[in-house]
Amino acid sequence: MKTMVISAHPCLEQSRANQAMSRELKRYEDISFRDLYAEYPDWTIDVKHEQNLLLQVDRVVLQFPFYWYSSPPLLKKWLDDVLTYGWAFGSGGDNLKGKEFIIATTAGGTENSYRAGGENLYTVSEMLRPIERTLTKCGITYLPAFVTYNANAGSESYLAEEAIRYAAYIHEPSEALVL
Ligand SMILES: Cc1cc2nc3c(=O)[nH]c(=O)nc-3n(C[C@H](O)[C@H](O)[C@H](O)COP(=O)(O)O)c2cc1C
Repeated sequence: MKTMVISAHPCLEQSRANQAMSRELKRYEDISFRDLYAEYPDWTIDVKHEQNLLLQVDRVVLQFPFYWYSSPPLLKKWLDDVLTYGWAFGSGGDNLKGKEFIIATTAGGTENSYRAGGENLYTVSEMLRPIERTLTKCGITYLPAFVTYNANAGSESYLAEEAIRYAAYIHEPSEALVL
């Protein structure tokens, strides 16, 4: 299975959690890792190039720090620009049908805070629904998200362990993630 990881961190070099994750992924030859903010410093996304890359992979991981209960803005722009009518959805737009997408996000909040009655009221999965529906509208198989909680307060060793758990998670067959 070919997997492409699209990281959308405004400054990956200064990050702790996402950098630990990207560092871990470099050990795997079956994963192509991309840093969206580094590739598009002026935010002009090469739509044809992105669509061609998508055609070549079976699974896509969208990796980002959770910002205001959503993704950093360049990933939203990537979705807006790349998932075009007639290509990703709508008449003739079946190029992404059956491809698997996984969201991988790091949150400052604790796992306990992301539940009914907790400080953040909802689970991260619930808050990812706009992205989930965007992808399912394109016929994509949306797999359960990977979340690292406590990303700011967590120690280096905790983040390194989470990065190993992340690499294992995105290598799992879809059945193992949904059953
Ligand atoms: C602009 C901004 C918004 C954020 N919003 C949230 C949020 O809604 N929920 C949350 O749990 N953490 C939030 N955080 C914390 C980040 O998720 C956290 O700093 C990040 O996941 C740490 O990963 P990194 O070390 O790779 O940067 C926010 C941080 C910033 C800078």
